[in-house]
Amino acid sequence: NAPKVVFSGIQPTGVPHLGNYLGALRQWRKLQDEAAPDDTLLYSIVDLHAITIKQDPSQLRQWRKEMLASLYAMGLNPDRAVIFCQSAVPQHAELMWILSCNASMGYLSRMTQWKSKLALPSNANPLDPSPANKAALKLGLFSYPVLQAADILLYGTTHVPVGEDQAQHLEFTRDIANGFNHLFAPSPSAPLLVSPQTILSPAKRVMSLTEPTKKMSKSAPDPRSRILITDSKEEITKKIKTALTDSTRGISYDRESRPGVSNLLDIMYYMDESVASSPEALAVEMKDVSLKALKEKVAETIENSIKDVREKYEAVMNEEDKHDGYLAKEAEEGATRASKLASLTVIKVKEAMGM
Ligand code: ADP
Ligand code: NA
Repeated sequence: NAPKVVFSGIQPTGVPHLGNYLGALRQWRKLQDEAAPDDTLLYSIVDLHAITIKQDPSQLRQWRKEMLASLYAMGLNPDRAVIFCQSAVPQHAELMWILSCNASMGYLSRMTQWKSKLALPSNANPLDPSPANKAALKLGLFSYPVLQAADILLYGTTHVPVGEDQAQHLEFTRDIANGFNHLFAPSPSAPLLVSPQTILSPAKRVMSLTEPTKKMSKSAPDPRSRILITDSKEEITKKIKTALTDSTRGISYDRESRPGVSNLLDIMYYMDESVASSPEALAVEMKDVSLKALKEKVAETIENSIKDVREKYEAVMNEEDKHDGYLAKEAEEGATRASKLASLTVIKVKEAMGM
């Protein structure tokens, strides 16, 4: 088996929620725990992505710290994975520029992510010169997928564990890699950039608790829409209790017609797969249970599964309070390692292009 290179990123936009946990971070930890000695794992706090939306500097500083603490609390270990902030490795922006010189505006304009960030209808054209769009759409937000492609391609990444919302960007990354190889690789058998595989976790898409037809997100305005991995037992219980469901009697699983109830079943099942053999089977087991009782079970399962993460988070933050800068120093070491690896690719790419 050829050595794996795993890369993934998360934005420092607040403590991770259950969508990040189930869709990405738990998978990051699993890959770390199962890694062979010559595999490489890189986990990045992608602050250059975060600034595609306006950020307050002191808030961003705090969020970077909280995200680092969250990754350590999840059990990600700097001795086994390269954990770093994206902005500390200049090659990300450098490779992005090079790739953007060969990236299609038309293809980018079909990406749905930034449309949802601008709250545009999914069929809207970003290049539409209407005044509202022109004012809202920044170049960085539009070209964000090119930066994401650079993040991944910099390290010869073979596997990218992400949630389903990122699948389209991974497709774009593969296209960029193939296009670049076609233009500049000395021969098809010696590609310069490696086309990566997507690894989707079983819980591909965790939905909002208050609007269960939308994905759970850090940027949704209602804080009751998401459970954070640092939420107390009381907060978890309260948020699950107020989660939007429906008035159909009994419990059944149907993501189309009962999105709220199905989301709760998904969350309970994926938080602890020992509760049943699938979310559907869990629904059958609980078919005569009241909604109130289901919600109690869901809250209890979440609490039992993330209690350790919350406690570890508090311990890490206490350590940081005692030794100010300890988190930043750890991340700097990660950035030094990442930068060494990244420069190998950038040198090769520039050389192939005549620079
Ligand atoms: P957010 O979308 O909340 O701002 P990020 O963009 O930083 O979070 O995403 C970090 C990781 O979490 C990505 O791999 C993304 O696919 C995953 N993710 C985010 N939200 C969800 C969700 N609701 N369900 C499953 N995975 C998710
Ligand atoms: Na996302």
